[in-house]
Amino acid sequence: MRAPRSSATAGAASRPSVHVTGPVPQRIQSELRESFELVDEPAGADGILALLTTTVDGDYLDAAGGQLQVVANYGVGLDNVDLEAARSRNVLIANTPDVLTEATAELAIGLTLALLRRIAEGDRMLRARRAWRFSLEFMLGESLSGKCFGVIGAGRIGKETARLAEAHGAIPFFSGRGDDLGALLDVADVVSLHCPLTPETRHLLDGSAFDRMKPSAVLVNTARGAIVDEAALVAALEAGSIAGAALDVYEHEPDVTPGLLELENVVLTPHLGSATRATREDMGLLAVHALREVLLEQRRPSNTVV
Ligand code: DGY
Repeated sequence: MRAPRSSATAGAASRPSVHVTGPVPQRIQSELRESFELVDEPAGADGILALLTTTVDGDYLDAAGGQLQVVANYGVGLDNVDLEAARSRNVLIANTPDVLTEATAELAIGLTLALLRRIAEGDRMLRARRAWRFSLEFMLGESLSGKCFGVIGAGRIGKETARLAEAHGAIPFFSGRGDDLGALLDVADVVSLHCPLTPETRHLLDGSAFDRMKPSAVLVNTARGAIVDEAALVAALEAGSIAGAALDVYEHEPDVTPGLLELENVVLTPHLGSATRATREDMGLLAVHALREVLLEQRRPSNTVV
């Protein structure tokens, strides 16, 4: 770790500089201003608070300069950060684990229920002012109760999602790194993604995975879009190889593969996994804490990744 800087209460002139790559909640802005000199550009900054829409690779780190000590990522996923490039440049990377676990798991279950019980589809039908009347066979869906709930990625969010699914009467089935994914795909009624996006998990769910799933099974993705081959997903949905999909993240975010927008058995939300007011504040506070620990106290934060 490099030489210590001034304390949190030091005067403005000696305060470390921090660049923030996008808008953050007001409270986080105030916390940052309390401890740091906020600068408009990454070049010359001692620390960076990076939103997940910022690609932090070797070029970015080089442009920031050799004085850069820490990048706090405003999210738990780190696919926007080249960890090796950071390690080799002696830049510490921190993320925001734990505080978004419940919010993300909640959304995964919300999407699952919206898909299985056709909630979004019913909403669309009414808004389109299509004629309808109650009948015993109208718009029947599936209950989560009794279903095999397949969790790919047995980390914090995967486990919490499984816990919530179990509370709805589902039976969790986990597949972690190194496990036989096919064993889960063969039996799961819901396949819910909770693994990080890495070179190994890119397109983990591809055409052959969809072929292996049960035709009655559905896919739920609140992890990262590129874990799914979206073109293959559209093909599988059109062919009826799987029964539906609920997605919060996209392979080419913010773009959505157009075929998905045409299908009634698809529920879509715009990357809302951690999007509660309290969660976004907690994530920001954790990131600010990491910046303070590194830049003011010369400590290695507990949420250090490299
Ligand atoms: C994360 O933290 O990685 C989430 O995707 C942010 O919503």
